[in-house]
Amino acid sequence: MLRILTAAAMAAFALMPSAPVRAAESETIAIIGTGPVGAVLGPRWAALGHKIVYGSRTPDAEKVKALLKDSPKATAAVPSDAVKKATVVVIAVPGGAAKDVAAGLGDLKGKVVIDTTNLFNFKNGMWEPEGSDSVVGQIQAAQPGAFVVKAFNTVTAIVMKNPAATGFPVTVPLAGDDAAAKAKVSALAKQLGFETSDIGKLEMGRTVEHLGRLYIYYGRTHPERLEFNFRTWKQP
Ligand SMILES: NC(=O)c1ccc[n+]([C@@H]2O[C@H](COP(=O)([O-])OP(=O)(O)OC[C@H]3O[C@@H](n4cnc5c(N)ncnc54)[C@H](OP(=O)(O)O)[C@@H]3O)[C@@H](O)[C@H]2O)c1
Repeated sequence: MLRILTAAAMAAFALMPSAPVRAAESETIAIIGTGPVGAVLGPRWAALGHKIVYGSRTPDAEKVKALLKDSPKATAAVPSDAVKKATVVVIAVPGGAAKDVAAGLGDLKGKVVIDTTNLFNFKNGMWEPEGSDSVVGQIQAAQPGAFVVKAFNTVTAIVMKNPAATGFPVTVPLAGDDAAAKAKVSALAKQLGFETSDIGKLEMGRTVEHLGRLYIYYGRTHPERLEFNFRTWKQP
């Protein structure tokens, strides 16, 4: 089902309009990790009518209770329970923990998994070299039946809360193997006021992770922030 896209849907995805749109269907979205990213995406999608289930190691903690107050109809559970009824699973944990967290969620076959993570090691003003594997590749390997999409790692939580504050369209690059999964993630991102750009297959997730490192590096070394605002053109 996920792999079947109509020509119209594909065309709409390719255009990627910047105006916030409301997805036709309401999703059940499990958000794994209740840090700054989960705490922005959850309430924003809940306000748009999606059912949010927060997956936390401590679902009874005060920080999770505060999130539930901000998220209409949301619930919280430990991560492996939170994903059970979800159609979409958002991994919003430290990049170094993402592989093990994904592996511990049970079988996510058929679900769309959004990997928001960044893995970086910033030392003496420079990046330490990372391994040859991408985090998104590790998550897909841990969940071979899931439709994994890299997304949102190139946007700070402040911009996730209000992309319009930048004064221009902010682009969320997407990488993943399944076109319909990317279309679903694109629709969810557009609901929040983002544009999206389909960069390519999952193997391009590593490049998108490097864009995340560029984003963080720029923010740490300049007084102003850099945001991605992709524009395409047809070379004559
Ligand atoms: N902050 C940003 O602006 C931003 C923007 C884009 C992408 N990212 C990336 O998105 C991911 C989430 O970032 P974040 O800033 O929300 O917070 P974070 O500091 O990475 O932690 C997020 C949450 O993950 C859970 N967690 C922490 N350590 C864990 C571990 N070892 N194993 C399992 N779960 C753990 C915790 O939730 P519970 O206590 O509820 O389990 C924590 O609140 C990161 O990979 C980050 O690099 C961040």
